[in-house]
Amino acid sequence: MKISFTLNGRPVTEDVPADQTLFSYCREHALKSVKCGCETSSCGLCTVWMDDEPVLSCSVLMARVDGHSVTTLEGAGAAREEFARCMAEEGAEQCGFCSPGLEMDVLALDRKYPDADDETIRRFLSGNLCRCSGYASQMRAIRRFLARHKSPDGRISARSEAAAQAEAQVKAASKGVTAEDRGSTLSRPVVKKDAESLLAGRPVYTDDLAPENALVVKLVRSGQAHALVTKIDTARALSVPGVVAVYTPDDVPSNRFTLAGQSFLECSPYDTRILETHVRYVGDEVAMVVAETEEAASEAVKLVKVTYEKLPAVLDMEKALDNATVIHNEADWSYGADRTGDPARNLVAHDVHEHGDVDAALAEADVVIESDYHTQAAEQAMMETMRSYAYVDAFGRLTVVASTQVPFHIRRQVANALGIPKSQVRVIKPRVGGGFGAKQTGCNEVFSAFAAWKTGRPCKCVYTRMETMSCSNSRHEMRMHVRLGAKKDGTITGIDLYALSNAGAYGYHGTTTIGLVGAKSLPLYNRAASRFAYDVVYTNIMPGGAYRGYGATQGCFAVESAVNELADKLGMDPCELRLKNLVKPGETLWQLGEEPLRSCRADDCLKRVMQLTGWSRRPLREDLGDKVRAIGVALTMQGSGISNCDIANVDITLEDDGFYVLKIGATDVGTGADTILAQIAAEVLGCDVDHVVTKGVDTDTSPFDTGAYASSGTYTTGGAVVKAARDLVEKIRAQAAAWWDLPLDAVEFDSGTVCTADGKQRMSVAELANRAIGFGLQPGMLSGHGSNTQPQSPPPFIAAVAEVEVDKFTGKYELTDYAAVVDCGTVINTNLARVQVEGGLVQGIGMAMSEDVSYDARGRMRTDSFMQYKIPTRMDVPDVRVEFMPSYEPTGPFGAKSIGEVVINTPSPAIASAVAHATGNYVRTLPITPEKALHGDPTEAPAPMSPSQAAK
Ligand code: FES
Ligand code: FES
Repeated sequence: MKISFTLNGRPVTEDVPADQTLFSYCREHALKSVKCGCETSSCGLCTVWMDDEPVLSCSVLMARVDGHSVTTLEGAGAAREEFARCMAEEGAEQCGFCSPGLEMDVLALDRKYPDADDETIRRFLSGNLCRCSGYASQMRAIRRFLARHKSPDGRISARSEAAAQAEAQVKAASKGVTAEDRGSTLSRPVVKKDAESLLAGRPVYTDDLAPENALVVKLVRSGQAHALVTKIDTARALSVPGVVAVYTPDDVPSNRFTLAGQSFLECSPYDTRILETHVRYVGDEVAMVVAETEEAASEAVKLVKVTYEKLPAVLDMEKALDNATVIHNEADWSYGADRTGDPARNLVAHDVHEHGDVDAALAEADVVIESDYHTQAAEQAMMETMRSYAYVDAFGRLTVVASTQVPFHIRRQVANALGIPKSQVRVIKPRVGGGFGAKQTGCNEVFSAFAAWKTGRPCKCVYTRMETMSCSNSRHEMRMHVRLGAKKDGTITGIDLYALSNAGAYGYHGTTTIGLVGAKSLPLYNRAASRFAYDVVYTNIMPGGAYRGYGATQGCFAVESAVNELADKLGMDPCELRLKNLVKPGETLWQLGEEPLRSCRADDCLKRVMQLTGWSRRPLREDLGDKVRAIGVALTMQGSGISNCDIANVDITLEDDGFYVLKIGATDVGTGADTILAQIAAEVLGCDVDHVVTKGVDTDTSPFDTGAYASSGTYTTGGAVVKAARDLVEKIRAQAAAWWDLPLDAVEFDSGTVCTADGKQRMSVAELANRAIGFGLQPGMLSGHGSNTQPQSPPPFIAAVAEVEVDKFTGKYELTDYAAVVDCGTVINTNLARVQVEGGLVQGIGMAMSEDVSYDARGRMRTDSFMQYKIPTRMDVPDVRVEFMPSYEPTGPFGAKSIGEVVINTPSPAIASAVAHATGNYVRTLPITPEKALHGDPTEAPAPMSPSQAAK
């Protein structure tokens, strides 16, 4: 049909398909700011204006657009830039994938309700989902943006109050650690290097960059939980105009590999093929359609006829071990580095770790808490779904452009899957719209790569939200049995922890997530004897994978909940109980590879959060009439990278006029790693962050790095940056010394200048750079290299207090306050660290209160969209309160530890304890629904509540 409308102020008359959506029209017409995060009108990412009113472009057909005006972010004008500045100054854009939709809605809010209060803002923007930020930083940016109308000159202050406070706090606390006021950019709210692009909606993500002529890859997926494919009829699919190929298991290499993005030797079993006739969960890939258009590919997928021979499905992890149904009976299954499993028993991994005599310790205890705790499978739910595209270059090599956390591991996976040399594969990572661990598993890349390799044409594979939720990976479901013994005075004597983990259909990360269950929960109470045993089992559901926290989240829920229950049973304050037992600096983390603990202010974090929430002067439970208000606490730890495993390499070159190019293999997935690493380099080189250009990641040119996982970016790669920058400083000094005919020791490097101590010789680095290019010791640029591995993984700590108000009659409860204090060593970027904490806490709150991957009796996932799987909106969470407790980790770059993962661990145990204090019901099965709060966990008899908890 022919329609006329105005697009970003320009009149357009065009023939369009009557059923085309405005979203798809915008994307086809290079308006790449318009993003898709769902197919169910539930995310707000696709928001544009129609006649200045915000609409979800995915729900508007082009027929409706006739006669109207459409504005996208590209045409939003000067107000957009003002709001973008507010966002950038808060670090609120994070991955940026949700930003364009939010910006369109905030500008509309500004027009309608310039005096909007918080409640109005939250309601107006309740449909704008964000998974990174936890909303608090966005709220700060929005408030400041709206406040400009109220300021006399209509200008926005240079920096937010919150940012200034955070900076002052960290600076004050880091005395003697970070550089003083001499231009240092450490412990400051430096704006992310990519902020402007992200907030302008520039085409910087994978699908924005895919060639226009890329073929579309779509998967035919199993409708059965467990079956053998006996026949695949592709004839009708191949007859669809535009279909280029339909590939079946007969067409793909038979190599088995793992999709877990881990360092070689990979720990996960080699149990996967690109396509296979033995399908192991609903959603498993059976065939692959490659077509000229999205429509043709979708049509053809429906026409591939698959015949199955059904097999019994194992859907309950409790019944998996030694079940008569063997999920991986293939002869070519093989072990990765972990060899403790036995596929004939559906066993992926098994082990026992002991420290001390736990049975004796429990026998001598006055009180023993013994309970089962269950943590659900949970979705990472990043806003950018899984996606990649691939092409064969002029040299016949395969290039894969992927939204991934692990480019170098994807290179290995693709080569292994296709059976081609790794030298034939190049992986490029553009901007990534969030990962949270999901993109540490290469669910998607092998398909675009295989299709491009076979067809010789560019091919792209973009998963829908439904595929990303039901056909990729989630947090491993776990059941943990805890026996925790203590003396009457609260001294914990022993902890016996058993975990059963559900790997699902494939063993990605199954062998490794489980280790953190014990390794990151038990060391907090390191003076107690402990045992940690586990089984990881295959079942016929979607595979588990990596998700922020990576097993620690599950273990911390179990152990911290047991500690809370112990306190209640003993009638002790749960904070005092912890202060009595917590690990101290200088002690050994027996359960974490016997690592010595250097920096640790866990107890100070706890004391500070007690102060912040008035813990000591309020009761754990207050009767408000129809409601009960109650508080609960938790304290957790994580690590900083993987000791004796993670590797980071960094190159820094000195370029024309003295700017630096920082080449990294580390993967910024929206957290700001590119900026943080540039800050670290700038600190060593004594220059502005703007003088450091961060370049990553292209596996052909970037130095090897294991990728973005295990909280390794700042700590591990940051350590390599320090080494590389120092190496370059030495070379700069050597260059000047050679020119001046002096010994190296006679030349000093100071903030962009080389000079002699007596000041007789002096040269700016800019001048040196320009001369070195032509007249250096060796012709060419000076460059430094740093390589970093680590024998330790120093833990960050977080203490948090949750406050809930529970309706006495319905059990419906609201999280009314959440305060947390974090010890992550030196904070490198105050804004980005704060947003990491806020975002991680809100993800943890979602896991505690509402999120739950569930299946029906046939193994079909019920929760495969944002309609059923409820991540928190800004209506569901308060602005969480965050503070940092400074410490200095001597093994970290400028004293830094990690922050990315530890922040997700406290909400479940803290909220469970608050609810228990309110209702007397200890909910040990997540999520904590109102029903469980009111009636108790259906699988548990309510534990008795100590009378001492009722009032204090
Ligand atoms: S893509 Fe339109 S609301 Fe999610
Ligand atoms: S910043 Fe909102 S989803 Fe990433």
